[in-house]
Amino acid sequence: MQKIIEQLDAKREAACLGGGQERIDKQHAKGKLTARERIALFLDADSFEEWDMFVEHRCEDFGMAEQKVPGDGVVTGYGTVCGRLVFVFSQDFTVFGGSLSAAHAEKICKIMDHAIKVGAPVVGLNDSGGARIQEGVDALAGYADVFQRNVMASGVIPQISMIMGPCAGGAVYSPAMTDFIFMVKQTSYMFVTGPEVVKTVTHEQVTAEELGGAATHSGRSGVADLAFDNGVEALLMLRRFINFLPSSNREKPPTWPCHDAAERKEKSLDNLIPEDPNKPYDMKELVTKVLDDHDFFELQPDYAANIIIGMGRMQGSTVGIVANQPMVLAGCLDISSSCKAARFVRFCDAFNIPIITFVDVPGFLPGTSQEYGGIIKHGAKLLYAFAEATVPKVTLITRKAYGGAYDVMSSKHLRGDVNFAWPTAEIAVMGPKGAVEIIFRADSGNQELVRQRTEEYSTRFANPFVAGSRGFIDDVIMPHNTRTRICRSLAMLSNKKLENPWRKHGNIPL
Ligand code: HXC
Repeated sequence: MQKIIEQLDAKREAACLGGGQERIDKQHAKGKLTARERIALFLDADSFEEWDMFVEHRCEDFGMAEQKVPGDGVVTGYGTVCGRLVFVFSQDFTVFGGSLSAAHAEKICKIMDHAIKVGAPVVGLNDSGGARIQEGVDALAGYADVFQRNVMASGVIPQISMIMGPCAGGAVYSPAMTDFIFMVKQTSYMFVTGPEVVKTVTHEQVTAEELGGAATHSGRSGVADLAFDNGVEALLMLRRFINFLPSSNREKPPTWPCHDAAERKEKSLDNLIPEDPNKPYDMKELVTKVLDDHDFFELQPDYAANIIIGMGRMQGSTVGIVANQPMVLAGCLDISSSCKAARFVRFCDAFNIPIITFVDVPGFLPGTSQEYGGIIKHGAKLLYAFAEATVPKVTLITRKAYGGAYDVMSSKHLRGDVNFAWPTAEIAVMGPKGAVEIIFRADSGNQELVRQRTEEYSTRFANPFVAGSRGFIDDVIMPHNTRTRICRSLAMLSNKKLENPWRKHGNIPL
């Protein structure tokens, strides 16, 4: 018996070494952690239950029969983050470059299947050279099996991809179908075709970092939600992020102890809006001052910064934040910001996370680049997302809410549950200047008349009271009371029940 136990220990030790000490050293030299070190950092201490440590690939070609490494390049299993169940796979670059074989894919599929069954998030720590070249179509089939599960899990359990090394070719499409993609600066990259192919086909000279590094995807393409400085920071932030999420669509978001009073007044908010309606202010100040402990986990801060999205808590319970940012493009909605916010709204709705929307929007961004790029279709995504969402929706208009953008931004007409406005709100078809230019065009030569008409329009429409008189705004509130009023609204809505009519699925304008 003792001998058998020793054999098991030896087998486990061999599996834990992956591709061997030399390759582990190489991994460290690149500033990367190993697959197991990553899991150890990510999960609660001693909580990891590993599965399939002894799985091996079945490839016989190209001398592969003699090169079998237990675990086959991916460490899989489950554990806890702050006591809550999470499934995880971590690709081991020291074993055939973390490449995906049929057996490697089966291991990933196994934990995904369990995660869906029991209702717990799946986290993928990606570090892979892509399809195992020696396996050919078996590897491609393995990818497709993972893709299919990504789709089946979508909206059922949260799926998060942390890209910690290469992720290229068709392999990018598994992370692309997960809810969030995080990357590590300098050591990770994602692209459909690498720099060499790009050079051959388009004659562009570009490095892997420029083409698909963390800065590119978190700032330019919007593929990644966040970029972290190193693997340790990335994994610790991932733990923080998981704490905001429910384990599945069957649960409400977790509630953590909260020592920040709902009654907290923020006097400084009474001075947030500048006298000059064209002067910007930082909407993030409002977001952070309203949330519990001023704690805001922002997503995609460097992409389409004219809209702010992210997670926070109110009275200990997770909320999703969507907010126009007047500091960037005057807070206009454009293609990128509409897509960014729409996907986030749909995530919140799928996972029972109430949405708080802060509105200061002068309209959709005009211009040929927007029209040619399809702002009609992309703007409609945000409208669709807010309109179909059945979670509690609380909206606050701080200043401008003009035109179609007023409707889109979680208005009463799209089933906003509680719609507040600050006294500084201006709810109208457009700003006073633009309105007068159109409806009083004949007076345009008379400066004094134009001034009078503009003032008249401002007095009539640039306020929240017309909308209030229709019941489109439930109350005009004091800025310093914002947190209290939203907390009370969310408490009132905590048992909200609303269902959309049965259908196979809607047809969001993609
Ligand atoms: C088998 C692979 C591999 C792969 C890397 N390795 N990629 N083995 N299949 N796809 C092995 C290498 O042979 C090497 O083995 C070890 O992993 C480390 O690789 P290096 O090249 O030494 O590392 P590095 O210099 O850091 O370069 C990493 C890399 C490069 C950029 C990822 O390895 C690379 O370009 N690999 C091929 C990528 C690729 O074309 N994959 C297919 C993409 S298409 P030893 O024994 O020396 O340690 C795809 C389709 C998916 O994935 C389709 C889904 C539908």
